[in-house]
Amino acid sequence: MTYNVVTFGCQMNERDSETLAGMLEELGYEYEENFKKADVCILNTCSVRENADKHFFGVLGQLKNPHENHPGRIVAVCGCMMQQQHIIDTLKAKYPWVDLVFGTHNIAEFPRLFKNVRDEHQKLVDVWEDAAPIAEGLPQKRTYPFKSYVSIMQGCNNFCTYCIVPYTRGRERSRNPEDIISEIKCLVANGCKEITLLGQNVNSYGKAKSVEGTYNADEGGVDFAALLRKIDKIEGLERLRFMTSHPKDISDDLIACFGELKTLCKQIHLPVQSGSDEILKKMNRHYDRAWYFDKIDKLRASCPDIAISTDIIVGFPGETEEDFEGTLDLVRRVRYDSAFTFIYSIRKGTPAEKMEDQVPEDVKHERFNRLVDTIHEIQEEKSKQYQDKVLKVLVEGPSKTNKDVLTGRTESNMTVDFVGPENLIGTIADIKIIKAQTFSLYGELV
Ligand code: 5AD
Ligand code: SF4
Repeated sequence: MTYNVVTFGCQMNERDSETLAGMLEELGYEYEENFKKADVCILNTCSVRENADKHFFGVLGQLKNPHENHPGRIVAVCGCMMQQQHIIDTLKAKYPWVDLVFGTHNIAEFPRLFKNVRDEHQKLVDVWEDAAPIAEGLPQKRTYPFKSYVSIMQGCNNFCTYCIVPYTRGRERSRNPEDIISEIKCLVANGCKEITLLGQNVNSYGKAKSVEGTYNADEGGVDFAALLRKIDKIEGLERLRFMTSHPKDISDDLIACFGELKTLCKQIHLPVQSGSDEILKKMNRHYDRAWYFDKIDKLRASCPDIAISTDIIVGFPGETEEDFEGTLDLVRRVRYDSAFTFIYSIRKGTPAEKMEDQVPEDVKHERFNRLVDTIHEIQEEKSKQYQDKVLKVLVEGPSKTNKDVLTGRTESNMTVDFVGPENLIGTIADIKIIKAQTFSLYGELV
C-alpha cells in the first residue's frame, strides 16, 4: 500500500507533512511519487492567500475520478484551510470523495483517525478549535538527510490585521529547550549539517503563557537568543538558520548572536510588510519605519555582510500612492538581498476584511510590478558582489532544471549551480562563482 502527501504553503506545513509521512510509514505504507496513484493521499493545505485556497481545490478536483476506479483509496485533507468552517461546509457540499478532514491542532491524532476511516469504512471530520501543547516524539520522515527544519514553536499571538494565521494555527506555544536540543543532536548525529528553526515569530520563543503546558522562559529560562547560543555549541552542526522574525521583538542580544555564533548563517528574514507608518499602524505591526531602519543598522553593525530578506504586501486597504512610495523608498534604503512580494488578499474573518477602502485590483497590480522591478534592480547589483568569489555551498543534489549540474545554497541562501561529482551531495563544497545572475549563481568546484 502506498501514500503521498501534497504540501501547500509554508515551511511549517512542510514540517508537518514530514510527521504525517513518518506516521504512514510506521503504519507500513510506502511513498508513491504520483499523488493520483497513491492508496492514501493527504493534502496539507494553506490559507494565507486566496490563490492558495484555489490551488488546493484544483488539486482536490484531480483526485475525483480515480477514486471511483480505485476502491479503498483514502483522501485526507488537513492544514490551515480546515480550521475554517466555511471550507468544511464547501468540502461536504461539493467534494464527497474526501474521506478524512482534520486540522492543525490534532496532527498527533492522525494515526487513530486514519485507522477509523480505513477499518470502519467511515468518513470523519475532526477539527479542534483550540491549540494543544506541542506533541513530542512523533514519527518523522525527513525530506533531506543533510538539512532539516526544526519547529521550536507553533501559533501566533500577533494578529496582524491582514493575516489568517492566528485563527488557523492558534495561540503561541513553545517547545521545551531540552526537547529541541535533543532533536537537533539526533539529527546532527545522523549527518544533518544545517538546521532551520521554525516559528511564526521566533523572537517570542518562550514568552507566551496563553496555552497551559507550554514552555515559558520567564524567571531565568531560555529565551530565543539563549536557545541559539546553546544550539551553536552542538558538536558537528555546521549551519544554523531561523525564520520568521518579527521586527517588533528582535532583541539586541539576538542581533549580537550574528557577530558571535560560529554556526549562525549571515542571513536574516525580517518581514517589513510596508514602508508607510500609516499602513504599518493599520496592519497592527507595532513598529514604524524608524524602528525598522534602526534594527537594520544594528544588524549590519553586528555582522557587516549579513544578507537580509523580507516580505512585502502591496495594496493593503487604504494604501495611497504616497504610502506605496514609502515602501519603494524603504526598499531602496535597505537594499534587500531578496524579497517575497504579495498582492494583498482579503481573508475571511480578519479585521482588514472589514476595512472600507480596499484598493482596486488594477492599482494593486500596477504597484506590484513597480515594486518587483525595484527589488530586482537592487538584487541584480547585489548579486554582482559574488563574481569571482569562492563561497561555501551546501550541495543539495542535481538541479531540477538541468540534471547535469548540481545545485546548492550559500550561507546567504543564494542558489549556486556547478558541475561536480554526486558524492558531494550533502557536503559543504568550495565553489568559485564564474557567473553571478540576479537570482542564481553559476560556479566551478575549487
Ligand atoms: N495577503 C497578502 N499577503 C499576505 N501575507 C499574509 N497574509 C496575507 C494576505 N492576506 C504575507 C505576509 C507574510 C507572508 C507569509 O504572507 O507578507 O509575511
Ligand atoms: Fe500573520 Fe503577523 Fe502572525 Fe506573521 S506575525 S503569522 S503575519 S499575524
